[in-house]
Amino acid sequence: MEPNLILTGFMGTGKTTVGRAIAERLKRPFIDTDAWIEERASKSVAAIFAEDGEDRFRAWEAEACAAFCEPQELIIATGGWTLGPAKNREVLEQGGRIICLTATPEKIIERLSAANDRPLLASDDRDARVRALLKQREAMYRSFAWQVDTTEMSPAEAMLHVMAVYGAITNLVEPDTFELPMHERSMSILLGADLLDVLGVMLRARGLRGNVAVVSDSNVAPVYGDRVAKSLAMSGFEPVLLRVPAGEASKTLDTASVLYEKLVEGGIERSGLIIALGGGMIGDLAGFVAATYLRGVQWIDVPTSLLAMIDASIGGKVGVDLPSGKNLVGAFHPPLMTISDMTTLHSLPGREFRSGLAEMIKASVIADVELFAMFESGETDLPEMMRRSIQVKVEVVREDPFEQGRRAALNLGHTIGHGLETASKFELLHGEAIAIGTIAEARVAERIGLARSGVADRIERVTERVDLPARFVDLDIDEIILLMRSDKKKQSGRLKYALPRDIGDVVICVDVKDDVVREVLIEMKEQA
Ligand SMILES: NC(=O)c1ccc[n+]([C@@H]2O[C@H](COP(=O)([O-])OP(=O)(O)OC[C@H]3O[C@@H](n4cnc5c(N)ncnc54)[C@H](O)[C@@H]3O)[C@@H](O)[C@H]2O)c1
Ligand SMILES: [Zn+2]
Repeated sequence: MEPNLILTGFMGTGKTTVGRAIAERLKRPFIDTDAWIEERASKSVAAIFAEDGEDRFRAWEAEACAAFCEPQELIIATGGWTLGPAKNREVLEQGGRIICLTATPEKIIERLSAANDRPLLASDDRDARVRALLKQREAMYRSFAWQVDTTEMSPAEAMLHVMAVYGAITNLVEPDTFELPMHERSMSILLGADLLDVLGVMLRARGLRGNVAVVSDSNVAPVYGDRVAKSLAMSGFEPVLLRVPAGEASKTLDTASVLYEKLVEGGIERSGLIIALGGGMIGDLAGFVAATYLRGVQWIDVPTSLLAMIDASIGGKVGVDLPSGKNLVGAFHPPLMTISDMTTLHSLPGREFRSGLAEMIKASVIADVELFAMFESGETDLPEMMRRSIQVKVEVVREDPFEQGRRAALNLGHTIGHGLETASKFELLHGEAIAIGTIAEARVAERIGLARSGVADRIERVTERVDLPARFVDLDIDEIILLMRSDKKKQSGRLKYALPRDIGDVVICVDVKDDVVREVLIEMKEQA
């Protein structure tokens, strides 16, 4: 039995019309949960609301979900809030694939103008009521991985898009979704398997069209470029593939200029779309190009390195390096979506993979005691550990989207790490430098009486456990300290540290004496 197809979304997005049409086309049973409830209650939804109250209706909805939890190839249209309660969603997900239909408030109001059987809209100012309800439910609707924006679609078109998405996802495991509001834009983050192949269908169904440029690097493009191009082409896009040499050396204004020219040649207009396919370097570069080309075009981040999936792709910061330092030119320009296909990690070199683990350990020290415990116990459930790391970054950025306070906590390990990375002339990968930097900063925190004793040893043990370096060789300590000062994150001449007080508890400090840092580094330097 194939999984059921479950349609959710606000009223007026087309759930019933589309669901019924698909059921007819596929010759499958169609269930409208409202109608199912009316039949059992022997009264209309409006009457249930009026006579028994909304709570009774919600209880009926829970019963409906329980009744359709098995895969039976059903096509189910749910009520607008049926999947609001997490329990209902879990139950239906067991036997089906949920697709959320969306439309703009204007379109919804237009479509509902004739309806008078909607108890929740019984209000004098229906427009305001629709907008308020939509706002209230926005986060819930956005939390579904699979979305079809029906605003510009006729019912027949919407049916085709829903069927395409359903066909593409029937064999996929449901991805995890995270929602990150970033003022006027908000970004959706998806983490799952085999998502590259459904990229085209997903973007098209969300109403994205126009020309698409895929920016990738010389390591990633040969492995995944064709798959992405094919997926886009199957959904009617005509992708242009732009490739830059792999490595941080490509993250420059010069490369950006080359890309701008190619975008013009490729006919990418303001309505066009840029897709970044690669590690954090590509995300930063392509995102920066998206932020500036034609004063800003929309972009999608498809991170392929562990570090990019759990860190670089989240938070909307994009930028390029200058000869005088990393990330010195940039913008806040969040992608519409970040789509992480974990299966791309199979081709990631081991050293790069471990480099990503360093940022996950960092995330656990900042705000997730349980994740840290997973590292301590040698846990290998990578998807769960990635989810937790993403959640830490999402929460921190949510609190401080424009980096004015709390977000500085993400710099844990980075003040000293930056000095190490630069002093090694980038022989140390970023994550490797951060691994050592995190231990060093924890030692500093202990030495100044901030951290509870033993914290640094615990961090060192998990670092070694995942085969990341915990010490450094051959670097000049005075040079490291000097280079730390060239970090743009220093504040009015004083170095700013994010230091742990304990696992899961990090604070910002500015009064750390260089001598303390020097003592710690001397201890951590291994004689070659
Ligand atoms: N914007 C932010 O908030 C933010 C945060 C952290 C880091 N960053 C940036 O991210 C960059 C570091 O990210 P990174 O470590 O992903 O660097 P990267 O993009 O250079 O990738 C590392 C290496 O792995 C290769 N690679 C990536 N995915 C692969 C795959 N699936 N298979 C095979 N090879 C693959 C790349 O070609 C490269 O050689 C830096 O430029 C850093 O400044 C940005
Ligand atoms: Zn980092």
